[in-house]
Amino acid sequence: MCGITACAAPADENVVDTLLGGLRNLEYRGYDSSGVATPDSETVSVIKREGGIDELADTLDVVGPDGAVGIGHTRWSTHGAPTDANAHPHTDCDNRVAVVHNGIVENYTELRDELRARGHVFTSETDTEVIPHLVSEHLDDGMTVDGAFRAAIERLEGRFAIAMVVAGDDAIYAARNGSPLVVGVDDGRRFIASDVPSFLEHTDDVVYLEDGDVVRVTPDEHVITDLDGRPVERETKVVDWQPEDAERNGFDHYMLKEIHEQPAALERAINGRITAEGGIDLEEFPPGTFSDVTDVQLVACGTSYHAALYVRQQLAERGVPTQVFSGGEYATTPAPVTENTLVIAVTQSGETADTLASLRAADERGARTLAVTNVVGSSAARFCDDALFIRAGPEIGVAATKTFSSQVAVLTLLGERIAQDITGEPREDLAAMLRGLERLPSDVQHVLDQSSVESLATKYRERDGHFFIGRGVAYPVALEGALKFKEITYEHAEGFAAAELKHGPLALVTPDTPVFAVFSGPHDEKTLGNVEEVQSRGAPAVAIASEESTEVAEVVDEFLPIPDTHPVAAGVLANVQLQLVSYHVADLLGRAIDKPRNLAKSVTVE
Ligand code: G6P
Repeated sequence: MCGITACAAPADENVVDTLLGGLRNLEYRGYDSSGVATPDSETVSVIKREGGIDELADTLDVVGPDGAVGIGHTRWSTHGAPTDANAHPHTDCDNRVAVVHNGIVENYTELRDELRARGHVFTSETDTEVIPHLVSEHLDDGMTVDGAFRAAIERLEGRFAIAMVVAGDDAIYAARNGSPLVVGVDDGRRFIASDVPSFLEHTDDVVYLEDGDVVRVTPDEHVITDLDGRPVERETKVVDWQPEDAERNGFDHYMLKEIHEQPAALERAINGRITAEGGIDLEEFPPGTFSDVTDVQLVACGTSYHAALYVRQQLAERGVPTQVFSGGEYATTPAPVTENTLVIAVTQSGETADTLASLRAADERGARTLAVTNVVGSSAARFCDDALFIRAGPEIGVAATKTFSSQVAVLTLLGERIAQDITGEPREDLAAMLRGLERLPSDVQHVLDQSSVESLATKYRERDGHFFIGRGVAYPVALEGALKFKEITYEHAEGFAAAELKHGPLALVTPDTPVFAVFSGPHDEKTLGNVEEVQSRGAPAVAIASEESTEVAEVVDEFLPIPDTHPVAAGVLANVQLQLVSYHVADLLGRAIDKPRNLAKSVTVE
C-alpha cells in the first residue's frame, strides 16, 4: 500500500530512470497515481500524475527532469481521491522540501489547521502534505535539514515511512515508524524503498530499518540514528531473491507466472523440513519447543486468513484448541490469552497493519507470538518471539497465489510439530500426509500441465453470481476460490461451508449461478449431496475433485480433476485449479489482473 523509492547516485548520474524502474517494481503496492522529485540548488522539481506508472513515464519523457538524487512514490489512496494534486511527492509553499509517505498521519487535521493559521497554503487533500510544511518552518527557524526533519517527525502521530529531499542538499532523509522501509547498499549508490524488489536489479545488500530509525543517505554512505540523533547500528543482509524472481519472464501477468511458480515454491517450502525417516525437522523449532502451549490462536487477513483456517482443521483434528481470527477483528476485540497461548500471525508480507495490531494486542496480554511470513526482516518477523519463513520468493501480483500454497505447506508442518509437542504423539497418518506434501510440487505441476479451464471460463464468465462450497480443508479453499474470483474478475462470488448452503445461500441459487464444489476426500458424499441440491435448482455444478472420484464426475456438469492424494494436499491442488479458473475468466473480461481496482498487495493501514 503505497510504494516509496529513492536513490542517491554520483553527481554525474541522472536517477530519474532508476526511480521510474523502482516504481514499476513497486507498482503492486499502489497504482492510482505516482510521482518523482529531484532537488536542485533553489527548488525541488516534482512531476506527478494520476494513473499508472506509464502515465508518469510519458510526462517524464516530455519534461525530462534531471538529478543525481531523487525520491518517488506510487500511491494507493487513503486521504483524498487519486488526482494529480493528491499524488506524491508533496511540497511546502516554497517548493523547497519534497516528501513521499506511506502510512497515515493521524493528527494531520490538527497540524494542517495550525499550519494554515500561520499562513501555509495547502494544495492537496492528503495527510502527507503537513510534513513538508512542518520541515519548511523549522528550516526557516534556522535549523539544519537533519534537525528540521527530526523536529517535524516528532510532531507526527500514526504509522508511517517517509523519504524527503530538500533543495540545495544532496542527501535523502528517511524515517520509519510502523511502515516498512529498507536501504539498498550498492557500490557508490544507495537506495531507499518500501520493499526490496524496488532495487533488487541493482543490489541484494539490504539494511532493514526499525521503527524509530532516521537515515541520511548519500551515494557512499547511509547513516542511521534514532530520533534523538544517537547512532544506531543495523546489519547489512544479503537477500537470496533473484532479480528475475521479480520479473514476468514471458508470462502475460505476474499472477500467471506466480501460479506456475508453485511447484518450485512448494519445493523450497518443505525443503529440509521433512526428514528421510518421515519426521518433521523445523530447524527453528526442535521437538519440545511447544510443550508448554495450551492453545493456539491464528490471526491473519485475506488469503492468509484462509491458510490459517486450513491449518485450524489439522490442529482441531489433533485435539489442540485452536481459534482463527481476522486481524482487524482481533485488533478490535482481542481474545483472552494466557502466557501459554501461542498466537500465530500468518502474513505473506509481514506488514499488514491489522495483523500487526493483533500481534501487539496479543503481546501486551502476555501471549507468545510467532510469525509465519514470506519476508525476512518484515515487521511481523521482527516483532514476534519467533518466525518461520515460507520461502515463496517475491510475490508481485496483488492477488496472492503461490504464497497461499506455501503457507499451507509450512503451516501444516508447524501444526504437526505443535500437536506432537502437546499430545506427545504423531498423527496416525503422518507418513501419508508427509508423502502428500512431498508429492505436492509434482502434483501441482501435473495440474498446471493438464488443466483445461479455458473453455469453462468462457462458459461461466459474467453470470449473476459464482458460489464456491467445500467442507473440511475444502471449506477454506472454497473461501479462497471465491476471494480470488471476486478480486480479479470483479464478478460477484461468495464462498460457503457446504453445509451452510441450505441455511440461506440456497435462496440465491439459480440456473445463472454456477456452483464450484471442492472435494478433498473426507465427507465427499455429503458435499455431493449439496451439489445435487443446487443442481435440482438448475445451477450448473463444477467439481474439483480427485481424478479417481468417478461418482462425483458422473453427477456434476463440469469436472476439474486433481491427482489422488492425502486430503491436506488435495486442498492445495484444488486451489490451483480455482486460481486458473479466476485467472482465465479475468483475462477474458480484460481485467487488470495484477493490479485489480481498489486493492493493494500490502495493506499497511488499519
Ligand atoms: C491484501 C492483499 C491480499 C492479502 C492480504 C493479507 O488484502 O491484497 O492478497 O492476502 O492483504 O496480506 P498479508 O501480507 O498479511 O498476507
